[in-house]
Amino acid sequence: MKLFIDTANIEEIKEAATWGVIKGVTTNPSLIAKEGRNLKDVIQEIASLIDGPLSAEVQEADANSMINEALELVKIHKNIVIKIPMTLEGIKAVSVLSKKGIKTNVTLVFSIPQAIMACEAGASYISPFMGRLDDMNSSGEELIQKMVLMKENYHYDTEIIAASIRSTLHLEQAALAGADIATVPFKVLKASLIHPLTTNGLKIFADASKK
Ligand code: E4P
Repeated sequence: MKLFIDTANIEEIKEAATWGVIKGVTTNPSLIAKEGRNLKDVIQEIASLIDGPLSAEVQEADANSMINEALELVKIHKNIVIKIPMTLEGIKAVSVLSKKGIKTNVTLVFSIPQAIMACEAGASYISPFMGRLDDMNSSGEELIQKMVLMKENYHYDTEIIAASIRSTLHLEQAALAGADIATVPFKVLKASLIHPLTTNGLKIFADASKK
């Protein structure tokens, strides 16, 4: 499973980049707004830190405007992936962009029929949101399991990015369901390194070596 970091915070990306396990970055308008900087500056800086797919989301709502915005965004860096919302206009834009060889990530995907639309449009990635489904007492884990099966049935090349990950349990569920990628907030990435028995085991060894 590939790990992406789900943030627009430069300090978090800088630190996570040193671990050698982060293969890409996803951002969204909320994450960019949190940093209080413009999209282009943040994206340029992130691209200089991680050499892998970097999802930048369009702000426009109609297909033609999304396409024009995408054509500008891809000029920023070769690794830019255009993140496009799961709407009819979004699907039209993905169809056009994929034919031009531009990579896309269809976001806000909550059902298998939506995922089929995105795959048929030629999306490079689809992002099912685990946390937001769980917030509604629905199962993000089940959605990913079904998406993996759907992908296998039709041999789609589209990669599944488990998104809206709120906990290490979500990461575990995404991995066991067979998601290709998980995009994970910094604090969940850090929590993934920790287990109380590892901490305790280290203490026991340290105490023993003092004797
Ligand atoms: C990533 O592509 C998504 O934009 C992100 O994971 C959404 O997470 P949230 O539901 O915690 O906002």
